[in-house]
Amino acid sequence: MPRTEPNISREALWSKLEYNPHSEGQLNAHMADERFRVTCCGRRWGKSWWAGHEMTLKMFIPDSINWIVGPTYALAEKEFRVVYNDFKKLGLLSSCKYAFNVDQGRMKIFFPALNSLCEAKSATKPDSLVGEGVDHIIVSEAAKHNRSTWEMYLRPALADKHGSADFPSTPQGYNWYKGLFDLGQSEDHTEYFSHRYPSWENPVLFPGGRKDGEIVAVEATVSPMFFQQEIAAEFTAFEGMIYPEFNEDIHVQEFDYDPKQRNWLAMDFGYVDPFVALDCMIDTQQRVWVWREYMVSYKSTYEHGHILKDRVNPDGYHIDGIAADPRGADEIATLSWIIGGISAHAVGWSLGVESVKRAFTVRDDGTPGLIIHPRCTELIRQIRNLRSKTGKEGRNSPEGQHDYDDHGPDALRYFFNEYFVLGAGDSLADFYGTQYRRSEAASFFSYEGSIANVDGDLEKMPLSKFTNIGRL
Ligand SMILES: Nc1ncnc2c1ncn2[C@@H]1O[C@H](COP(=O)(O)OP(=O)(O)OP(=O)(O)O)[C@@H](O)[C@H]1O
Ligand SMILES: [Mg+2]
Repeated sequence: MPRTEPNISREALWSKLEYNPHSEGQLNAHMADERFRVTCCGRRWGKSWWAGHEMTLKMFIPDSINWIVGPTYALAEKEFRVVYNDFKKLGLLSSCKYAFNVDQGRMKIFFPALNSLCEAKSATKPDSLVGEGVDHIIVSEAAKHNRSTWEMYLRPALADKHGSADFPSTPQGYNWYKGLFDLGQSEDHTEYFSHRYPSWENPVLFPGGRKDGEIVAVEATVSPMFFQQEIAAEFTAFEGMIYPEFNEDIHVQEFDYDPKQRNWLAMDFGYVDPFVALDCMIDTQQRVWVWREYMVSYKSTYEHGHILKDRVNPDGYHIDGIAADPRGADEIATLSWIIGGISAHAVGWSLGVESVKRAFTVRDDGTPGLIIHPRCTELIRQIRNLRSKTGKEGRNSPEGQHDYDDHGPDALRYFFNEYFVLGAGDSLADFYGTQYRRSEAASFFSYEGSIANVDGDLEKMPLSKFTNIGRL
């Protein structure tokens, strides 16, 4: 089913606005009548103008509810400003109720003549995204959103009215936006349109095209990776990867849970970004086998605790220790009541990263020290995409990593901090020799946190909450 169009003529509106698409590409993106349109653009291509002018048109559908959803209010403002200026130019603003305050997150235009509404929203306020009967959404800078924002809030809000959505964004590595883009390229998903638009296809700003002086100058100063992603709008491996040694052919392998080995839970806390709990098995050669991931957004810590406690586990399952983000004092307090004691000590970022890097090394027997089960799809993607904070060109990157889509690797790092950097894996009992084995002293000296035994069946185990993007 194509998208709903208003009863006014697009051409008449554009003529009043003195707006003309700047290229065939921009015109085609406007005219595509698929329900979901993924425009993957280089910086300054004109994506906000494209999506904003489309929104103005949508406001001429009577009784319609339209949203501009940014990762933050400041990012939603880009498109909102276009709609606002359009209404001003059309001389309609004075007859509308409107607010335009980015700092307070109040940006809306209500058009009483047609009872239509355009409202800017931020993914940082998930409560505000609960809704139904929404007609059209701009998922502004879509690649910077969490996939769950789209799946859990925005897409359901469009269900009643078979609403449409536009996804203007620069790409961001191979994250969920790439999956969305691929749907547009697949013949099986006729509701999706997708196209890539490099920055130089904006002839207003870059009349010289690919050879425009400005484009050439940027190319000369930034890394090829940066250029490919931000200007050429290509999906590319990230600039400044933190774990370049991670290789799916080596580090991702099938294996079974073995109850004879130690098993730790590695946690990171989040609400909009997911809450993470990774099951990490540690064998006698101190190899780490991550065999299960739990990554779920929009639940309270208390709920997560009970889900983890009550889930189905493989036979002989046990938790020998839990490592977590030391900054989450409240979460730790809540979870400790439900699933047991948690180790969470502050360790410098680079020490933890170094320890994970060392584990990625392939040992003499041909197997690395860290292996991840292929069912941990989110963790694998996040490790692949994890990159350092971008520093100023020509300077070393500041220490640390970008702070989105990184909760899986963070959880892993907290576990490495506790187990390897601080040496929790070497329980003191081990040093005290055999005479203390099975004695009270052994358990006294053991560092390990909580023990929980839950019988269950591996087959029935709920795996990642996230389904494959191809099944959207
Ligand atoms: N159809 C058009 N006609 C004239 N100028 C245009 C058109 N589309 C875009 N522009 C020009 O290009 C500039 C960039 O457009 P816009 O802000 O929409 O790009 P963007 O891709 O959203 O940029 P950013 O990457 O900064 O978010 C606009 O300020 C405007 O000057
Ligand atoms: Mg923009």
